[in-house]
Amino acid sequence: MTVTGPADPALGFDRLIEAEQRIEPRDWMPEGYRKTLIRQIAQHAHSEIIGMQPEGNWITRAPSLRRKAILLAKVQDEAGHGMYLYAAAETLGVDREELTEKLISAQQKYSSIFNYPTLTYADVGVIGWLVDGAAICNQVPLCRCSYGPYARAMIRICKEESFHQRQGYELLLAMVNGTDAQKAMVQEATNRWWWPSLMMFGPPDGDSPNTQQSMAWGIKRHTNDELRQRFVDMSVPQAEALGVTLPDPDLRWNDERQAHDHGEPDWSEFRAVIGGGGPATAQRLAHRRKAHEDGAWVREAARAYAEKHS
Ligand SMILES: [Fe+2]
Ligand SMILES: [Fe+2]
Repeated sequence: MTVTGPADPALGFDRLIEAEQRIEPRDWMPEGYRKTLIRQIAQHAHSEIIGMQPEGNWITRAPSLRRKAILLAKVQDEAGHGMYLYAAAETLGVDREELTEKLISAQQKYSSIFNYPTLTYADVGVIGWLVDGAAICNQVPLCRCSYGPYARAMIRICKEESFHQRQGYELLLAMVNGTDAQKAMVQEATNRWWWPSLMMFGPPDGDSPNTQQSMAWGIKRHTNDELRQRFVDMSVPQAEALGVTLPDPDLRWNDERQAHDHGEPDWSEFRAVIGGGGPATAQRLAHRRKAHEDGAWVREAARAYAEKHS
């Protein structure tokens, strides 16, 4: 876009945001905008990559060849999401190597949800249903994010995420129509994953100081509590169709608000998990660190190959 009048780059940025147009890598942007995006996109990319572990845990023990093929494809999709997102972050002037270093040295975070263990095969279904479902609620508005490369990556990612969610739901439908033991497994997994899924939207709006700035910049489109509400309202009828109970005694329809009232997650648990004290945090990071070290020879070979051809 051509800015007429005084050549103030900030004015050009403000106009693009105002007009709901995309900011592209070549455009001037405030340092805070760039930093916020790097942090958010990196955190998102790390979540996709670390998120492969809880479900990857069940690939070798999938109950049939069909389930194994489905799970393999799903986990592979998550690796792809991580790659698109690292590429989007690189357009902001950081490189993937640096972001990976920050992940494995615990200087950058990833979603709290992936610090919980997967104890039964029903967890694979519940993760697809609730965790990918919550991710979709968070991510669909990001397709309209003001930063072009991030918004475009999200369009592709969201299509695959909705497939992941259906995949999980289809697995759960098969289990709840199976034996009593299978049905009980689904209920037990739902009990464990419900509250951590609600935490995926982040702290309550009153404790989320960056939300207003992110919304003014068109990075974020809805507050944490709005998105959480949307997720609860979406999940209740799905739980009913499955015949499982969501473990919240305060959950009920509020006719006045035309939405469900619900209980609060245990925010002290959330802070502990975010602070590095989740049940599987040490294992997740150790595994990622080892995978990075084991891959050193591949990076060296790629570098040598590139030098030879330059
Ligand atoms: Fe993903
Ligand atoms: Fe997914």
